[in-house]
Amino acid sequence: MAEQATPQIAYGLQGVVIDDTRICKIDGGIGKLYYYGYSIEDLAEHCSYEEVVYLLLKGKLPNEAELKQIKKDLVAARGLPYGVRDVIKSAPKTSIPMDILRTAASTLALTDPSPNDNTDEGRYQKAIRLVAQFPEIVAADYRLRRGHEPIAPDPELDHASNFLYMLHGERPGADAARTMDCALVLHAEHGFNASTFTARVIAATLSDMYSAVTGAVGALKGPLHGGANEGVIKTLLDIGEPARVESWLNDKLQDKSFRLMGFGHRVYKVLDPRAIVLKKYSKKTGEERGTTKWYEMSTQIEELMKKREKPLYPNVDFYSASTYFMMGLPPEIFTPIFAVSRVAGWAAHVIEQQNHNKLIRPGAHYIGEIDRKFPAMSER
Ligand code: COA
Repeated sequence: MAEQATPQIAYGLQGVVIDDTRICKIDGGIGKLYYYGYSIEDLAEHCSYEEVVYLLLKGKLPNEAELKQIKKDLVAARGLPYGVRDVIKSAPKTSIPMDILRTAASTLALTDPSPNDNTDEGRYQKAIRLVAQFPEIVAADYRLRRGHEPIAPDPELDHASNFLYMLHGERPGADAARTMDCALVLHAEHGFNASTFTARVIAATLSDMYSAVTGAVGALKGPLHGGANEGVIKTLLDIGEPARVESWLNDKLQDKSFRLMGFGHRVYKVLDPRAIVLKKYSKKTGEERGTTKWYEMSTQIEELMKKREKPLYPNVDFYSASTYFMMGLPPEIFTPIFAVSRVAGWAAHVIEQQNHNKLIRPGAHYIGEIDRKFPAMSER
């Protein structure tokens, strides 16, 4: 048989463009990010998470009546089904919160009378339901594993405030509510990243929204993706004190395989614009809570990494970690919080993918043997 030429392989699909999209634009060379053409800086400053959900699902910013309606839709979709609550309650207390979220996302399909309705309206309703239910799942798990009953959502509260309320059992102050709302805006969407691509691959088989989102949660869990924010706080806690930052980092970086969580990015080769906003929130939250130590350590790390021969810059996970930590949130729910936000982006991509669908099926370069002599059982 004639030798096949080795194809050009794009390991990790790096640099491969596989589709058109209107949802998100990232310019990694200059650190710019847009949702439907609006800069992340404007969205972070002026928009609530609900406005961003509308933008992602409908492709336009809502007017007052539309915003009122989507808020109403989200409140109406709250209320954890008993089946989902039972799954969370019966899980071992040692379960990882992202595993609970993934399982609960899948269970939501069982409590939807038409889980495979892929019409425009069907997908919109499922997207709203998933966005509304994710914070409830995370909050219920957070409370149940601590021996407390879940707290019913408060219909008077917006999405971010209600999430904090369901976690802690008291209405959040204005600063905490704004910080959470902005964090949700910043994490809502990010192009064809690993979890979103997973969702699109599943959607492209014409499977349903729940399957796509369940798969996406599994992808987000990994430490090279959304799991990095948990790694960041572990790093800060391990270092412990600002005076130890430089020696700790120098020591770790001796090992060429060491990965500093919250640094580096496949697309951004400069500072991630979301990290710029979150850095301000980390500082502000530290000042409000009377402890700027974690922020100071973070800025020290940022400066040291910038000065390296091959500089690396913080990504979205770096300053979100110290911000959440100072808000009194435990590290094990940092990645679930990412999912609480990103579920809107996943849903938007499922809709876009199915609106101009093409099955996603890359090729592979086979490097094994062929035409091997088949051995009988006694010869193996
Ligand atoms: N710590 C130490 N070195 C890092 C690094 C990090 N966080 N991120 C990248 N590098 C180095 C690699 O070792 C490699 O060095 P080399 O060229 O000398 O071999 C170079 O930078 C390129 O890294 P590579 O892994 O090829 O880039 P990638 O595009 O495949 O990886 C990430 C992107 C995000 C997976 C990677 O930066 C990473 O592991 N970051 C830490 C996890 C994280 O924060 N993830 C959240 C992303 S939002």
